Amino acid sequence: MTALESSTKVQLGGRKGGPDQPTLRQDRWWVQPVVTVSVLTAFVIYSTWAAFQNANYYVGANAHRDLISPFYSPCIASSCVAGSTHGFVLSGWTLSPALLILIFPLGFRLSCYYYRKAYYRAFWWSPPACAVADGHKSYSGETRFPLIMQNVHRYFFYFGLLFNVMLTYDAVRAFHQPGIGWGVTVGTLVLVVNAVLLWLYSISCHACRHLCGGGVKSFHAHPIRHRIWKALTPLNAHHMNFAWASLIFVALTDVYVRLVASGVLTDYRLF
Ligand code: FES
Repeated sequence: MTALESSTKVQLGGRKGGPDQPTLRQDRWWVQPVVTVSVLTAFVIYSTWAAFQNANYYVGANAHRDLISPFYSPCIASSCVAGSTHGFVLSGWTLSPALLILIFPLGFRLSCYYYRKAYYRAFWWSPPACAVADGHKSYSGETRFPLIMQNVHRYFFYFGLLFNVMLTYDAVRAFHQPGIGWGVTVGTLVLVVNAVLLWLYSISCHACRHLCGGGVKSFHAHPIRHRIWKALTPLNAHHMNFAWASLIFVALTDVYVRLVASGVLTDYRLF
């Protein structure tokens, strides 16, 4: 029997292993979609809960700290607790201040090229993994509404940068403990790591790489753009890692601030 005669016939574009078998893969291809669904679902549930709490998002001067949750920063509603705003305040907003701002980081993540791949596979099975049959009969990609709206990603990227600046400012402010002076607490480090991860996530973004190095016919005429593009390219290769690390850590930062603000945890001063 030749190798050709012993091979299994696979119908392209249909069930990969026959009518009742979605794939010929023997490995645990389903682990990645399951982990993606679990982590993203947990994040959405937690962040929605946290956004509606409208409490315990800020540790202020009465505790000799200046720590704000990233879910509530910048705090721009008149309902923000004292000390948590940065000057500009929107009067008349009585709901949770987080509801005013979360659409921007959420839109940035939802339209991210990496997350799109992850959740199209995990939630819509389109397809769930390489060499596994699509869960749907037809495929229109992102050519129709609503998925064509994913093209706004580059604009969310600009908003994402603004948020990174704000969260970096929050991290710098956390080095000052009102009534004590400058120093480092666990909360300071948490806010710094959060800001660093969010910057890494943003500057490794595909839209950022294109913005810096795309659309040029020759890099010879654009040496500075070439340098920036060369610096960003290795980061871009790790965009997936930065996406997950920053997503999980931003939630952990909210958890930390929330626990300190509610008195469950003490924010220890390191030096
Ligand atoms: S591609 Fe992921 S943030 Fe832009």
